[in-house]
Amino acid sequence: MAQKKRVLSGMRPSGSLHIGHLSGVLENWKTLQNDYDCFFFIADWHALTSEYADTSNIRESIIDMVIDWLSVGIDPEESTIFLQSSILEHAELHLLFSMITPLSWLERNPTYKEQLKEVKGRDLSTYGFLGYPVLQASDILIYKANSVPIGVDQLPHLELTREIARRFNYLYGEVFPLPEALLTQNPKLPGLDGRKMSKSYDNVILISDHPQVIDKKIRPMVTCPHRIRRNDPGHPDHCPVYSLHQVYSSKDELDYTAKGCKTADIGCIECKSILINNIQTLLEPVHERRRKYEKKTKRVREIIEDGAKRAERVAQETIKEIRELLKLGL
Ligand code: TRP
Ligand code: SF4
Repeated sequence: MAQKKRVLSGMRPSGSLHIGHLSGVLENWKTLQNDYDCFFFIADWHALTSEYADTSNIRESIIDMVIDWLSVGIDPEESTIFLQSSILEHAELHLLFSMITPLSWLERNPTYKEQLKEVKGRDLSTYGFLGYPVLQASDILIYKANSVPIGVDQLPHLELTREIARRFNYLYGEVFPLPEALLTQNPKLPGLDGRKMSKSYDNVILISDHPQVIDKKIRPMVTCPHRIRRNDPGHPDHCPVYSLHQVYSSKDELDYTAKGCKTADIGCIECKSILINNIQTLLEPVHERRRKYEKKTKRVREIIEDGAKRAERVAQETIKEIRELLKLGL
């Protein structure tokens, strides 16, 4: 049997994830598990590039996030789940890449320029922050990954990874495949206030939110501004509740709510109830698995450690090959 192609992706540890992560990234990862040799890791060193001054939340966030991964169905039997900082080879490769990466490639990186300008309250004029994509390149290339599921925001980083791989291959020999992006389709998912769903806006529904919490969050959501009284007709396209319906409701329910909204045949309370019920139903099996893992955080740690053993074997092989090529060591 032909060897499965390798997929690698990572997330910075940001604690509990929201349903936007589920409908975008995690659903994608789940499907990939069947067809690829998947490596999914927690990028705790990357978290340090901006959170270096206060690292107190990182450990806890790692466990919360991995419990979310497991509860939505990322399967440790199928996929290799591990922590970046357990695999020292990433750091060695990062160092070697830093020798061959021109400064200008990093300085013109749009994400870098944007974040320097936008992120307030932290000093990001560090060596590590500039080198963020070099570390990302080493995460990907140390496993010789063929495909990298990412959102469009990460494309410049993947392009840099490819440039670094090309340069390395040119200088020392064909070691690395050039990894391709597997773009994650991010459904347009608004948060509770109609802005983009994001923890920093405090408008999220968490994957781990209990059914009653989901109810409490969705009931007071703002709706189409035209529906002031119960018999005012509305425009579903101007309503964040309807945008959520588009991700979580069936075709029939969509027709029913859109039509009912435009004719004022249904009220917003009924419309929201359908949505609440669908999200609760979707999360029911997720919560059932979550309860199991929450009781067994020791098992969660074991999963991450077992993953590290598998990852380490691959990473060590690559590093051995590279040390040989560069004539490092005696
Ligand atoms: N930079 C990615 C993000 O912020 C996280 C990440 C780190 C990553 N290393 C990676 C993603 C390697 C894919 C592959 O989302
Ligand atoms: Fe929004 Fe539904 Fe109310 Fe229409 S009926 S405004 S779609 S909540």
